[in-house]
Amino acid sequence: MKKLKLLVLASGGGTNLQAIIDAIEQGKLNAEIKAVVSNNSKAFCLERARQHDIQAIHLSHKMFATPEEFDQRFLAILKENEADLIILAGYMKMLSPTIIRAYKNRILNIHPALLPSFGGEGMYGIHVHEAVINSGAKVSGVTVHLVDEVYDHGAIVLQEAVPVLDDDTPESLQERVLKTEHKLYSQAIQLFAEEKVDVKDNRTYIKK
Ligand code: GRF
Repeated sequence: MKKLKLLVLASGGGTNLQAIIDAIEQGKLNAEIKAVVSNNSKAFCLERARQHDIQAIHLSHKMFATPEEFDQRFLAILKENEADLIILAGYMKMLSPTIIRAYKNRILNIHPALLPSFGGEGMYGIHVHEAVINSGAKVSGVTVHLVDEVYDHGAIVLQEAVPVLDDDTPESLQERVLKTEHKLYSQAIQLFAEEKVDVKDNRTYIKK
């Protein structure tokens, strides 16, 4: 089985990144993280990468005169590292159509709710869990999906439900959902390592 080369993009603490690192180290995920790229030089995700001898790269639009120059640099990083998949793990920027087209069906994102509910612009972080609780929904969950040019829209790869409890606050729900995120993301990436994912008409089909 081929070892997948991953490039992880993250903006924050990177607990999902950590879960992927752990899954690789435990032999549950047949992949290698070639680099972690963050738009935030102080983000702890970069520190996590360094602690595991993974290349940590600060790359922000602010470093370039135009968005096209950012894309060229990012594409060069992908090429240098022969990245098979781009993994968005709490990356707070939208990728450009140039990148999304260059990596069609090879960019994954994780969302802390059951898409297509509670997704779209402004639905990130604690806002997602606030919206779930305010809706009165009894079930939330985790979605791992491919990234296309529409926010939170690409084909769904895996989903898992997480109960919403009567005494949940957005924070307690977030904590429970995050635990499932940490498990589900590596499982989804492993499906790609095993070449089990077919994509057709915005749906994925997982081979047994
Ligand atoms: C996660 O909740 C993920 O679903 C969302 O951003 C958050 C990132 O958290 N896309 P962390 O940095 O991995 O802890």
